[in-house]
Amino acid sequence: MSLLVLGFESSCDETGVALVQADANGAVPRLLGDALHSQVAMHAEYGGVVPELASRDHIRRVLPLARQALAQAGKGLADVDLVAFTRGPGLAGALLVGAGVACALGAALGRPVLGVHHLEGHLLSPFLSADPPEFPFVALLVSGGHTQLMRVDGVGRYHILGETIDDAAGEAFDKSAKLLGLGYPGGPALARLADFGDATAYALPRPLLHSGDLNFSFAGLKTAVLTQARKIEGLPCEQPRADLAASTQAAIVEVLVKKSLKALDATGLARLVVAGGVGANQQLRADLGRACARRGARVHYPELHLCTDNGAMIALAAALRVQAGVSQPARDYAFDVRPRWPLDQVA
Ligand code: KG4
Ligand code: ZN
Repeated sequence: MSLLVLGFESSCDETGVALVQADANGAVPRLLGDALHSQVAMHAEYGGVVPELASRDHIRRVLPLARQALAQAGKGLADVDLVAFTRGPGLAGALLVGAGVACALGAALGRPVLGVHHLEGHLLSPFLSADPPEFPFVALLVSGGHTQLMRVDGVGRYHILGETIDDAAGEAFDKSAKLLGLGYPGGPALARLADFGDATAYALPRPLLHSGDLNFSFAGLKTAVLTQARKIEGLPCEQPRADLAASTQAAIVEVLVKKSLKALDATGLARLVVAGGVGANQQLRADLGRACARRGARVHYPELHLCTDNGAMIALAAALRVQAGVSQPARDYAFDVRPRWPLDQVA
């Protein structure tokens, strides 16, 4: 029997609803319908995510998106076997929207419900790509709030190898972009400007590059970018900004690449999965691709449209957990959310 999972993502500034089908033969689940609304334009005016506005917008968008995902899949609500939602980490009010809708729907349909860890969604999202990975692998999780290297031995078997001790890589992109006068979200904007710059123009720090462990630190980089940004403020020429953007991107990417290679060495594994919003960065993809090819390691990514937040990865994570027998979906429809939730604590 196949399992049809309707997944809701509402942890931050994207509302995502998707339908994933897992077949009983253990094959990788398939994405049947995927609807997404990004709040980026709404928050851009404020230079970052405004939590209360995020929650209200999730409420407005979630049901039309659910209809859209079902229509795309040619399915109806009655076909859904399991309802999944992002239980955490994320903004409490935003999470509650997805959790509330998923549990209400589950209760109305008489179907079980499963709360999923947002980062587990990111981590497993490459399984929806044309070139899915195999366990075990090293995962580099680089989102707006997290930067972690993990050893992944199977669904639900995650061991943290290293993580950031301050800012996340996405945060470093976003904060540096702000210092360069770029809009929100800063990562893609900084990457675009970096295309026109010289990455060797500014010697920026590579924090913890030689620390001997697999931890990251990006707060010092932000301070260095601030110092340089002040020097070029008000200059009539655009080139220094592009050079600083390129140098910033190079610093972040070099640290991510070198630490990922160290994690492969430390685990003896030859497969790397890159997930989370920063995984969309083309420089990171190019440099990681080259470095891993040199040592005969494979790199797997989610499809580009599944790098940032989406409902598909939540439906997928729920399907894989149930398929692997590591989660028992609930039928009591009582729910909570976990705004802070370390990934190695998923039961
Ligand atoms: O995974 P994600 O969509 O949301 C979280 O769960 O945090 O990641 C968002 C982060 C933001 O910091 C954004 O600036 C960054 O991913 N990002 C990028 C790119 N696309 C998104 N950073 C660098 N280059 C990109 N192309
Ligand atoms: Zn995310």
